[in-house]
Amino acid sequence: MSDNRSLVSIAGLSREKILYLMDMAHEFESHPNRKILDGRIVATLFFEPSTRTRLSFETAANRLGARVIGFTDPKVTSSTKGETLKDTIMMVSNYSDVIVMRHYLEGAALYASELTPVPIVNAGDGAHQHPSQTLLDLYTILQTQHTLENLQIYLVGDLKYGRTVHSLIMAMRHFNPTFHFIAPKELAMPAEYKQYCEANGISFVEHEDFNEDIIAGADILYMTRVQRERFSDLMEYERVKDVYLLNASMLSKAKPNMRILHPLPRVNEISQDVDATPYAYYFQQALNGLYAREAIICDVLGITLEDIRADKSYLSFR
Ligand code: CP
Repeated sequence: MSDNRSLVSIAGLSREKILYLMDMAHEFESHPNRKILDGRIVATLFFEPSTRTRLSFETAANRLGARVIGFTDPKVTSSTKGETLKDTIMMVSNYSDVIVMRHYLEGAALYASELTPVPIVNAGDGAHQHPSQTLLDLYTILQTQHTLENLQIYLVGDLKYGRTVHSLIMAMRHFNPTFHFIAPKELAMPAEYKQYCEANGISFVEHEDFNEDIIAGADILYMTRVQRERFSDLMEYERVKDVYLLNASMLSKAKPNMRILHPLPRVNEISQDVDATPYAYYFQQALNGLYAREAIICDVLGITLEDIRADKSYLSFR
């Protein structure tokens, strides 16, 4: 996090800070309704579509007593008249205490955080980073595996453009994972992230096959969508869009502790028959987004774990 407490990238978070935010999220899982943001205003600026990220940030703000302003579509803002991102951020800084922003340009959140003392939370910047997703992913991994250490984590699908998998690799560097990258050549993990693994002592194995024998080794099977919106060549998208489809019959050799995560939305990569298996965990994962985002909003506003543990306002919601 930068000096003004913005959350723009997962790369800057220490192991201690990640575990601290996990503890904070756990407090919110126990008691999500509180009044600790009474009088605060949270702005949500979504220059790209979203369901979970925006709604869980807004739910987090509402459950903590803040009010929410913002937009879900830049077409209804003055950016259509030519207003720059800089000017938009300067304006919204006048009206809010924290700005949650999703933008299609890589680096947009960092740029915004350098313009304003109001903390910026990166809700996704192009194919670059999605740090709040990563914190909820880590919380979900911890919840299901009871540890973050020494896990076999299988990343499947669009590893080229998938910002969630890029952020997850960076966050897991503290916890000695072994990653398995499962992707067709066209969507393979970019060289920069493999170099990042090598530089940080992270083991990884690459696969193109995706079958029950491969899945048998996983603690976490992290499925991803092939993202049509990231392709400049739609013919290439058509070639790779249905490359991996997970169905229930492929789980016959899965370890009992294995859980399937997906940042969602899914399109055609997890069959509906997987939903009823004990391995499916993506809907609980999305719920954990609420607790992780309550923690993030509090943290960027300078509200500590100690403050939250001392807070008893949840008693008035009973
Ligand atoms: N996981 C995720 O970012 O979902 P949305 O695009 O719906 O926010």
